[in-house]
Amino acid sequence: MSVFNKLFKNKKYISGSKVDNNLTNDSSKNIGDNSNNVKGRKNYNDINYFDENIKTENKNYTDNANMINSKINSDDKNYFKKSDTLLKKIIAIANQKGGVGKSTTAVNLTSYLGYFGYKTLIIDIDPQSNSTSGLGISYDSEKSSIYNVIIGGAEIEKVKLKTDFLNLDIIPSSIQLAGAEVELVTSMKREYKLKEAIEKVKNNYDYIIIDCPPALGLLTINALSAANEVIIPIQCEYYALEGLGQLLNTIKLVKENLNSELEIAGALMTMYDPRIKLADQVISEVKKYFSNKIYNTIIPRNVRLSEAPSYGKPILLYDPECKGAQAYKSFAKEVIENGTKRIR
Ligand SMILES: Nc1ncnc2c1ncn2[C@@H]1O[C@H](COP(=O)(O)OP(=O)(O)O)[C@@H](O)[C@H]1O
Ligand SMILES: [Mg+2]
Repeated sequence: MSVFNKLFKNKKYISGSKVDNNLTNDSSKNIGDNSNNVKGRKNYNDINYFDENIKTENKNYTDNANMINSKINSDDKNYFKKSDTLLKKIIAIANQKGGVGKSTTAVNLTSYLGYFGYKTLIIDIDPQSNSTSGLGISYDSEKSSIYNVIIGGAEIEKVKLKTDFLNLDIIPSSIQLAGAEVELVTSMKREYKLKEAIEKVKNNYDYIIIDCPPALGLLTINALSAANEVIIPIQCEYYALEGLGQLLNTIKLVKENLNSELEIAGALMTMYDPRIKLADQVISEVKKYFSNKIYNTIIPRNVRLSEAPSYGKPILLYDPECKGAQAYKSFAKEVIENGTKRIR
């Protein structure tokens, strides 16, 4: 199996020349972002930067593999997983505001973590199921979801699905979850349903990333109770700080009462548009607010990031050269760096 096949096991996307055409066409639409890079895809040397395991499993390098390998620049090699020890980090992506980039961050962070060789599980606990569909998993009422785990006591292992992407499993969400907040109210240990479920699988993963709904209700509380860290995506806009006090207060209350381990990993500025005058001012406000606990990477507003979910692909497959992809890759590197620093 080629490296490309291994990375993106979905046959839909890898049938021969179709891929090349798609990528080339897509790229040409994206003015300025990646039009210069199409030629760069023929860099055969970059294969050396692949994780040793991936390399040995995939002796059969094809053009597709080379295409993907060319995306691996010399800096990337420092970030591939080196040790066999699992990190076991559980990170919630939370902000009660909708549309700030939580799901986009969850999908693209997890796919890059997988790409860098980390065994990753994404748990979608938003009834809107954006990260589920964003990873190409279609809604199917027969399929079990996180709802069955939290409310029905289903085994998390049985609900887990493999995604089409390397090292990435998912616990999908479903619209049924919309009723879960109400159903949870009367259950015992209602804040710990997710934590209890995660206990059973956490030893299988380096990273478990939880995509939260746009609310500070019981589902988000469940995520914060289960997590070691929380990443807060913040849109670079005038009202960015609005509601943050409430979010930080919730995090503080969870830390005091439910999960003393919980830490804020950092704020991630999203949808940055340099044409918006206030954007830079907003970033410095957020820096002050979080006493510099803010990721160096700033995610630009990039139309490719908003197109990718409708194809069920993370940006690393949809358009790996675009600015959005480069930004999420560099963000994933920051997350990996922080992770390895802490476990030592
Ligand atoms: N950096 C970005 N550039 C352009 N569009 C984006 C970006 N991040 C997210 N979007 C789009 O904005 C919308 C909201 O993002 P989403 O990740 O779903 O937010 P949330 O999960 O916080 O509600 C989606 O349509 C998504 O495709
Ligand atoms: Mg979302």
